[in-house]
Amino acid sequence: MTALTLSTAGAATLRADALVVGVAKSGKTLVVAPGAEAVDKAFDGRLAAVLETLGASGSEGEATKLPAPAGLKAPVVLAVGLGTAPEDGESFGAEVLRRAAGTAARTLTGSKKAAFALPISSADDAAAVAEGALLGAYAYTAYQEIAKDAKKPLAEVALLGAKPRDKAYKAAAERAQAVAEEMNRARDLINMPPNDLYPESFAAIVAAAGKEHGLKVQVLDEKALDKGGYGGILGVGKGAVRGPRLVRVAYTHPKAEKTLALVGKGITYDSGGISLKPAGHNETMKCDMSGAAAVFAAVVAASRIGLAVNVTGWLALAENMPSGSATRPGDVLRMYSGKTVEVLNTDAEGRLVLADALTKASEEHPDAIIDVATLTGAMVLALGDRTFGIMANDDDYRTAIHEAAEEVGEQSWPMPLPADLRKSMDSPTADMANMGVRMGGGLVAGLFLQEFVGEGITWAHLDIAGPAFHEGAPYGYTPKGGTGSSVRTLVRLAELTADGEL
Ligand code: BES
Ligand code: MN
Ligand code: ZN
Repeated sequence: MTALTLSTAGAATLRADALVVGVAKSGKTLVVAPGAEAVDKAFDGRLAAVLETLGASGSEGEATKLPAPAGLKAPVVLAVGLGTAPEDGESFGAEVLRRAAGTAARTLTGSKKAAFALPISSADDAAAVAEGALLGAYAYTAYQEIAKDAKKPLAEVALLGAKPRDKAYKAAAERAQAVAEEMNRARDLINMPPNDLYPESFAAIVAAAGKEHGLKVQVLDEKALDKGGYGGILGVGKGAVRGPRLVRVAYTHPKAEKTLALVGKGITYDSGGISLKPAGHNETMKCDMSGAAAVFAAVVAASRIGLAVNVTGWLALAENMPSGSATRPGDVLRMYSGKTVEVLNTDAEGRLVLADALTKASEEHPDAIIDVATLTGAMVLALGDRTFGIMANDDDYRTAIHEAAEEVGEQSWPMPLPADLRKSMDSPTADMANMGVRMGGGLVAGLFLQEFVGEGITWAHLDIAGPAFHEGAPYGYTPKGGTGSSVRTLVRLAELTADGEL
């Protein structure tokens, strides 16, 4: 884990392996961003000119390494692009700083200590740099015996210009650290191969973390699920050798006035089941528990920050496998709610496990329920792989989630729940089918879930199928593999709920 310190030292006096500075475009010229004045001075005021000679443009995502001149206590200067410089005195913006810090930390893989001299003009700016650096330093090497040493993440991040004695800065940095570390926890779970992460082992990891953070953890195993009548979760888990689980992980605060329930899809591997996915569609399906990982991470983060709100996480864990004991297309499941569902496609399994968890979560009458799921390929087609879809039974709540996401640097978009699509899930045999029309498939899935939300409860559904797992080249603070998508949004929503703003 990368250590974070707020330092009062000047950029020229702190001993480190690298000094990170920002460069930006101002009109046609390259300028050194505020915070790096002492570094520029060590270059005799020629840092921008030197960088220009090396081909730097100041664009976002750009990183240029150069040897430090005498007078600095670090051997290397790393200049990261911040895009267009803002008006005098204005912030570069949290997400620009987060991404630039992430690019820097990623570029410095293998280094021990880096000092970040980026433009920080507020506690929010400091938090963004901290978050970006800790997220960018992430690497998943648990299974790499050969490359492990070469990929050692940056061990220490020192933030310069972040006023360690100022309460607001300290609190912001601590929050950023909790959120980033919990996002990295979610990433670890998502990246863990499915032969080692399965419902039982996932539940054990949650139980262990629960102990560490004083959370109440309850696990329903197959026997308990059977006794309770959780036909959706059991139906999906039936084909696998490793049985399903429903995990409840709860953070409570003595002064809490509200309870937020978070429900996560936790398919530890989605083969499609008997409706088997074709080759080319299953290589990344260990990521199908990203919703559960995000929910778990958000609950732990809420407890670490000490938010005055109760947050209850429900993790619906199952492995979707084909076998002689698997649910067949045509089978009818009796759900926990009592509704019967004809399974027309065993690859539409997420909604089945979520349905039971939503019914169960509703029994406790929370003030709101948010479910998070890598639910449909249709959402990826609609919004691409960096944006999650938001559906809700309350337009204001949906808008609030979209705005909260934007605030914390997550891309999302509001999606409708058109009532006319509901009839495509009518079944001649059961109360409804688990599939409807293909067009608008992400919305059809949302409509299915809505049927299992308790009467009168505010509910939203985040379909993170696109952004949960990143297959392209790393950028900013986003690595290849599990991203931790939606964790920041969930934490922000818990915060807004605690503050009575939601
Ligand atoms: N886990 C998948 C959705 C998915 C697709 C997640 C791509 C991440 C990336 C889900 O269980 C699924 O298979 N959905 C089907 C539903 C269909 C059969 C109604 C889909 O989207 O094709
Ligand atoms: Mn599926
Ligand atoms: Zn799935």
